[in-house]
Amino acid sequence: MKTILDFHDKKSKKQKISMITCYDYSFARIVADSDIDCILVGDSLAMVMLGHSTTLDVSASVMAHHTAAVVRGAGDKFVIADLPFMSYRKGLTANMTAVEKVMKAGAHAVKLEGAAGNLKLVRHLVDSGVPVMGHLGLTPQSVNQLGGFKVQGRDEKAQKKILEAALQLQEAGAFSVVLECVPSKLAKEITAALEIPTIGIGAGVDCDGQVLVLQDLLGMNQGFKPKFVKTYLDGFNTIKGALNKYHQEVSAETFPSEKESYS
Ligand code: KIV
Repeated sequence: MKTILDFHDKKSKKQKISMITCYDYSFARIVADSDIDCILVGDSLAMVMLGHSTTLDVSASVMAHHTAAVVRGAGDKFVIADLPFMSYRKGLTANMTAVEKVMKAGAHAVKLEGAAGNLKLVRHLVDSGVPVMGHLGLTPQSVNQLGGFKVQGRDEKAQKKILEAALQLQEAGAFSVVLECVPSKLAKEITAALEIPTIGIGAGVDCDGQVLVLQDLLGMNQGFKPKFVKTYLDGFNTIKGALNKYHQEVSAETFPSEKESYS
């Protein structure tokens, strides 16, 4: 997928969208060579790559730094970059400075969390030529307000609120919406109500697409296994095995051999 038009096209043809997070050049090159549709430079990089316990500890400059690295490896994949915590809640000039940083780093679109208080900005961004992806349900930047990383939209009132927020984001011009950790039935209802595609994570199979954190999919994060994650590789043990083999060959003086040495 190369543009936001492809998102609309896929939804209208009932073709699912695959999105994966990516934070660096070397993985971006692998994703670029894969069938994955689009890349999210998520602010989850604060946790996955930098070891923080929430996504709050990342700035627009750090997001721009990682976005630029991903874009250099991403070929013609569509790249969305997260606007980090607080960077779009400060007033128009400061908000636009944050957006400008990630867009000038090469992102094709930005993602922001929540609808309340963001709709004017979404409209302004769209009018300024910046495609916007929304993010509803479990919005990790609000982890302190939500009381933890919990499934959202469990009761009828909360479900109505999320559906309304999705419609508001669409009305404001968002080209798609991530639905994170909401009951599958609610995600299905929102997906049917929207013209723009929904991308789910922990939101069931009826969303128009799915997103996973790359390192979760690759099984790099031992001990982190929420219900919605499926691991497609035992990355932790595969890489550990390679490192141990290298260590063993260094110790046994079988590496480097003649083959890896200059005459
Ligand atoms: O930052 C991120 O990785 C995300 C996805 C979980 C949707 O926002």
